Amino acid sequence: MNLAQAKEKLKKYGQEHVLKYYDELSGQEQEAFLKQIEATDMSLLEACKHREDLGQRGVISPLAAMQLPEIEENKEAFTAVGLEAVRAGKIGAVLLAGGMGTRLGSDDPKGMYNVGLTRELYIFECLIHNLLDVVRQADTWIHLFVMTSEKNHEATVSFLQEHEYFGYQAEYVHFFRQEMAAAADYEGRIYLEGKGRLSTSPNGNGGWFISMKNAGLLDLVKKAGIEWLNVFSVDNVLQKIADPCFAGAVISKGCAVGAKVVRKNAPDEKVGVMCLEDGRPSIVEYYELTEELMNARDEKGDPAYYFGVILNYLFRVQDLIGILDQHLPLHIVEKKIPYLNEEGELVKPDEPNGYKFENLVLDMIHQMESCLPYEVVREKEFAPIKNRTGVDSVESARALLQQNGVVL
Ligand code: UTP
Repeated sequence: MNLAQAKEKLKKYGQEHVLKYYDELSGQEQEAFLKQIEATDMSLLEACKHREDLGQRGVISPLAAMQLPEIEENKEAFTAVGLEAVRAGKIGAVLLAGGMGTRLGSDDPKGMYNVGLTRELYIFECLIHNLLDVVRQADTWIHLFVMTSEKNHEATVSFLQEHEYFGYQAEYVHFFRQEMAAAADYEGRIYLEGKGRLSTSPNGNGGWFISMKNAGLLDLVKKAGIEWLNVFSVDNVLQKIADPCFAGAVISKGCAVGAKVVRKNAPDEKVGVMCLEDGRPSIVEYYELTEELMNARDEKGDPAYYFGVILNYLFRVQDLIGILDQHLPLHIVEKKIPYLNEEGELVKPDEPNGYKFENLVLDMIHQMESCLPYEVVREKEFAPIKNRTGVDSVESARALLQQNGVVL
């Protein structure tokens, strides 16, 4: 794209201001900037102007979860089915580690956070150790795909290499980068993060399968015979990955996807809950949960929307391939976005100052024909690290790790 074409594109979307410093750039910087302008999907920015149209929901009804007593009763049978699938190489794991972790407030990738007290114990290390439990149990390696973003790719790869993948077999670890999206002020004007660089941020965790495809990894998935992908977040240090009992339950029930869920600890706990939306599996976010839904009861008299998702899903690959050409809804999220001020200096704001544009993995659930919500004991499997202190923090996760016998 040349300058004239860039100007035309920017004019179309009302973004000409980004060329303010263009003449100060070197030839090479100009070229890189034009490339970025060409690659950026600016139609997204238009969505800021009609945000209210984005969150329209269908009719919500309850979706029963498989609860602990039923799981306990069938534990042996489910585990046998799941282990067989792991041993046959049918299950792969996908670590979603492309997020910025802004709430934790560290510039490093979240997985590099040291939760140890008397020794080093990194978040990545906790997760890999959890996966290694299944590797040992099944006596076979499991392909681990790690999603990073342009912002944290190098740091993530070199950290894991330096630590020799915390005992994981290198040939079974595959990195791929997710796509980026422009970040804008509240009027939808793209910020600059450098004189020749638009502010961008990772485009949410919902693009993971498309990004795997773009990275050419579906060939490996096919060649290795992987039929299920267990997607999980980087920040839950008690996360069980490729859990044979969970996999066995989802396979035995013939569902397109399984979602690990925990019983909420209060009706207004801030987690998305499983439901049906217009008859298809779906997730209602906590801020969309009306009083009426919060207090609704199912036919047994139990709270109807009481199982919260913990970002651990087992997707059937053939169903993921089937939805590759479907669009996911766009989420506009208020965030702190570093930007160049009027003086051309980089500012890292303390408060949110604009929007990022994201697709979310939870919306993929609604694209699936069937979903098995699978209850897990939260004290054993849910220790998210979102914040520095307080709820879902380093402190709360440390306490839960200790409760589960992990030496910190
Ligand atoms: P969060 O929703 O907690 O987002 O991600 P975040 O960006 O990591 O953190 P904050 O909101 O800025 O504090 C949930 C999971 O999804 C991954 C994260 O790495 C985490 O595992 N994620 C999120 C991505 O892989 N890519 C993204 O673009 C966003």
